[in-house]
Amino acid sequence: MNREIVKGVYYVGVDDHHTVLFENLWALPHGVSYNSYLIVDDKIALIECVKEPWADEWIGNIREVVDPAKIDYIIMNHMEPDHTGALPHIAKLAENATMIYTPKASDMQKSFYDVRLREKTVTDLEELSLGKRTLKFLHTQFLHWPETMMTYDMQDHILFSCDAFGSFGALNGNHFDDEIDMRMVESESRRYLSVIITSYLKFIQQAIAKVTGLGIDLKMVAPSHGPVYRRDPTWIINRYSEWSSPDLEKGCTIIYGTMYGFTQRVAMTLKRELENLSVPVKIHNLSYSDMSKVVTDSLRAGVIAIGTPTYDAYPFPRVWAFVDEMEGKRFAKRPIGLFGTFGWGGGGVKRLKDKFEDLKFEVLEPTIDVHGRPTSQELEDCKRLAETIAAKVRL
Ligand SMILES: Cc1cc2nc3c(=O)[nH]c(=O)nc-3n(C[C@H](O)[C@H](O)[C@H](O)COP(=O)(O)O)c2cc1C
Ligand SMILES: [Fe+2]
Ligand SMILES: [Fe+2]
Repeated sequence: MNREIVKGVYYVGVDDHHTVLFENLWALPHGVSYNSYLIVDDKIALIECVKEPWADEWIGNIREVVDPAKIDYIIMNHMEPDHTGALPHIAKLAENATMIYTPKASDMQKSFYDVRLREKTVTDLEELSLGKRTLKFLHTQFLHWPETMMTYDMQDHILFSCDAFGSFGALNGNHFDDEIDMRMVESESRRYLSVIITSYLKFIQQAIAKVTGLGIDLKMVAPSHGPVYRRDPTWIINRYSEWSSPDLEKGCTIIYGTMYGFTQRVAMTLKRELENLSVPVKIHNLSYSDMSKVVTDSLRAGVIAIGTPTYDAYPFPRVWAFVDEMEGKRFAKRPIGLFGTFGWGGGGVKRLKDKFEDLKFEVLEPTIDVHGRPTSQELEDCKRLAETIAAKVRL
């Protein structure tokens, strides 16, 4: 079903309640939406396509408004297949359309799909008249890929912001911020930002500066995932600004793996000692928390404390996987606390220490490496580590 969001602009996107993992990595407990918009003016412009399996439903939504053969422009802000997979399907129906995207997207389009419609590449801040409306294109490199842009409707002051300002969560007919539970949007948009565009936090800050630099009174932010913000378009911009800020939070996130509970005992003791010192703590057992939640809760933590049993002379595999995420997602440098337990030769904590020193993170003293069950000495060490962490968090 389509929905007119302002006169002449229609939401024609789809909900995905089937995909279990976004990018085959990140849990989607509430689904996700692939938003697409249709502007009907003297010229007809379609903004974004959808993921390939939803092509039929999406084309049905478009048909409710116009015959797809009448589409003049297919504007693609981003070439990732969640937004372009259905392009070959619409291309067969909209034979006279011109594809509009950045020069970098042109090469990607050819390599991904080789759709042979006419194309027009647009420069940063270039404008395109549709008749009564004019669109302006803002290049926003690395939000989410190098070729990405936003499209701004200068008449109705709508920013089609693509992945930026997006959120996980299907819409289920509630397309606007004033129709949806904003507590869910808050947690799902933060999780989305933290796992999808984390490596490029500084580009979020740059894009926000670019948008605010336009000096316009934005009426709507219409991203390509999640709700359209009309009650308060600044809400999501401010949240994104805060969540991508280089200033770390004054708290500690404890992340640990455990098979039989020895390492968990150290984790719990460290938590209690930190709380005794009034340090805000978040804690995740990597076997039970989804990695997206773990990344979200650690991305901006002032200190991260990581605990592992030794597993075949290495850290517990899920702990190693988290450290990989920290590296791949270019976590900002900050102090790291390390603890763990082992049965004979050990190696888990030592390898973590070597890895963080290689990555140039400060590893806090003491590192706690326990043979067997934690004794009163090691629990005393937790107190010392908590004091070191507390001193860092208060800086
Ligand atoms: C599959 C498996 C592999 C292990 N590999 C090692 C090892 O290579 N070196 C070692 O010192 N301990 C090893 N251990 C012992 C654990 O590191 C030790 O029992 C640890 O305290 C378990 O902590 P947990 O109770 O938090 O799981 C291994 C244990 C298991 C179950
Ligand atoms: Fe993307
Ligand atoms: Fe996307």
